[in-house]
Amino acid sequence: MSATTLRRHYEEHHANYLSELRAALEAEEMIVGNVTSLMPGMERMIQPTKSDSQMPLGRLVSRGLSFQPPQTLPKQTVQTIRRAGGGHINHTAFWRFLCPAGTGPSGPQGKVARAIQEDFGSIKAFRQQFKEVAMNRSGSGWAWLVYRQDGCLVASSTPNEDNPMMKDHVPWQEAGRPILALDIWEHSYWEQYQDDRERYIDAWWKVVNWDFVTRAYQIVTTKI
Ligand SMILES: [Fe+2]
Repeated sequence: MSATTLRRHYEEHHANYLSELRAALEAEEMIVGNVTSLMPGMERMIQPTKSDSQMPLGRLVSRGLSFQPPQTLPKQTVQTIRRAGGGHINHTAFWRFLCPAGTGPSGPQGKVARAIQEDFGSIKAFRQQFKEVAMNRSGSGWAWLVYRQDGCLVASSTPNEDNPMMKDHVPWQEAGRPILALDIWEHSYWEQYQDDRERYIDAWWKVVNWDFVTRAYQIVTTKI
């Protein structure tokens, strides 16, 4: 994946979500440190250590005071929180699960690899199923590897800027905590691959941060 595409994706698309979200929250005089606190039933995003990623993120990612939202928010604000807030959270996940090609393991390792083998049959079958889910999403959306509440790993896809943690908006079979995220909006690949989403997915496998997938799996499977 080219640096130009990634930079534009980060500096334009992700940044737009942040400013839309900020404007919507400011209009309601809300100060929010943790976006997920606005989405009922949604769990926190997995936070990486400093060494997991060098990429700076928007200020909203940082910890801060988090106030409960007012009971009644205008419909438009609720929609913006879902779309722009979801966009912010999903892109944050997307960047975390990337690393420069050749700087980490080329596939899943240890416990997460064993869990994938158990739930999908093999690593190859998992890659195939993940790709199918991503290819079958018509229009904009995301593909995920999800740790479901029943302990199963599943490949799933959500439309627009929804994600598997939005329990009110996804079927239970696909709800859970993501341990891998792929943006399949055209803006993430059009410049480089035009409408060839398959080539983009094949290229993306080479820059997946499997170390962070391992860590994410460790976090979601650890009972607190
Ligand atoms: Fe995107």
